[in-house]
Amino acid sequence: MRIKLARILDELREDHRNLGRLLDLLESECKVIPEDGEPDMELLRDIMHYMTVYPDAIHHPREDLVYAAMREHGAELAEGLENIPGDHREIAELGETLRRDIEAIISGAAVTRQHLLEDLVNYVGHLRRHMEWEEADLFPRADSLARDRESATVDVSMHLGEDPVFGATTVKAFSNLLTYLQRAQ
Ligand SMILES: [Fe+2]
Ligand SMILES: [Fe+2]
Repeated sequence: MRIKLARILDELREDHRNLGRLLDLLESECKVIPEDGEPDMELLRDIMHYMTVYPDAIHHPREDLVYAAMREHGAELAEGLENIPGDHREIAELGETLRRDIEAIISGAAVTRQHLLEDLVNYVGHLRRHMEWEEADLFPRADSLARDRESATVDVSMHLGEDPVFGATTVKAFSNLLTYLQRAQ
């Protein structure tokens, strides 16, 4: 299944808006930690579960396809793109570390809240900087390719999947998260 570059870029930007909301939510839940407050661990778990099934599994691989198309179409579009796969991998690893902290706390292991907070700040900061770089530099370069070659498409057959929270149908495992987001609006 092939999607036009312009359309996939719209979808990637929409993903970023949704991801931004979730990163804000992670941060605001954990603001209470320095005052010995307890974040909503179930909510943190749902958010980090989402990160593994959509951003890590669909959003980043789809971006990799866009960046591969940019490399194909010229050196002037390709600058810095060699750093992207490593960055996506690092984000997934930092996310996995955070997800494990949360699971451990839920199952009663002795993980300090300070440790959780450090891993969370690390993850949120890294993903935010990555998205800012993409929006300020990489997506505009991809926009210019989409304009120059209106027929340019990417083959997403290997990375199909609806967003299970923000898509047309919410997957049941994420219904609490969606309710939370709707209430917070
Ligand atoms: Fe990315
Ligand atoms: Fe992205």
